[in-house]
Amino acid sequence: MAEPNPRRSARPRIVVVFYSATGNVAALAEALGEGARGEGAEVRVRPVVERAPAEAIEGNRRWKEWVENNPYETTASLDDLEWADGIALGSPTRFGGAAEQLKAFLDTTGGLWAQGKLASKVGTSFTSASTEHGGLETTIAAMNNVYYHWGTLIMPLGYAADPSLMSSGNPYGASWVSKKSSAPDDDALVAARVQGARLAQVAAKIAD
Ligand SMILES: Cc1cc2nc3c(=O)[nH]c(=O)nc-3n(C[C@H](O)[C@H](O)[C@H](O)COP(=O)(O)O)c2cc1C
Repeated sequence: MAEPNPRRSARPRIVVVFYSATGNVAALAEALGEGARGEGAEVRVRPVVERAPAEAIEGNRRWKEWVENNPYETTASLDDLEWADGIALGSPTRFGGAAEQLKAFLDTTGGLWAQGKLASKVGTSFTSASTEHGGLETTIAAMNNVYYHWGTLIMPLGYAADPSLMSSGNPYGASWVSKKSSAPDDDALVAARVQGARLAQVAAKIAD
């Protein structure tokens, strides 16, 4: 019989690491975390550090409001990635890819990567854009590219996990099209919850 895995937690550990400038991706991140908690996971929902110059933030009313009312006390750390069995990365679509704030955090993971500490975890990604064809899938694929290098097992959202995904879902990962700067609707939040639940289920199996 196999020895018990010493790093196996009784509950799967999920970290949601995201960047959000105006709150849309944050809402999806929270919903994804809720979905994972519903499966009994221990969950950390962590934004990455804001790095944009003050004048850029100052010039955008919604961005400024989000930064001034930021509800998060703790930002994402390398320890969060090492701790987790399952990782969800989230970013607004920025010119068809992830925001540099998220990439800057990911670019600090070389040490963990070199030690193989991110391999064999489960990873998934989600996003928000302002138009249907503005790069939702390319952004998710760009975030998933990092998982290939880490050796992380990539988990798509797919369609099969919940009947609602057949109409609302994006099989690449939970996505919101923020027309006129609208916040994620119920369908998008349900998709994010399903993605979190699925991540927790798969991570529990992989961690075992
Ligand atoms: C610099 C910049 C680039 C953007 N690029 C795109 C884009 O390529 N395609 C798109 O549909 N929306 C684009 N957007 C819109 C954001 O992706 C969208 O508003 C998103 O919902 C913001 O998420 P957040 O509220 O979490 O910051 C861009 C926004 C900014 C500020």
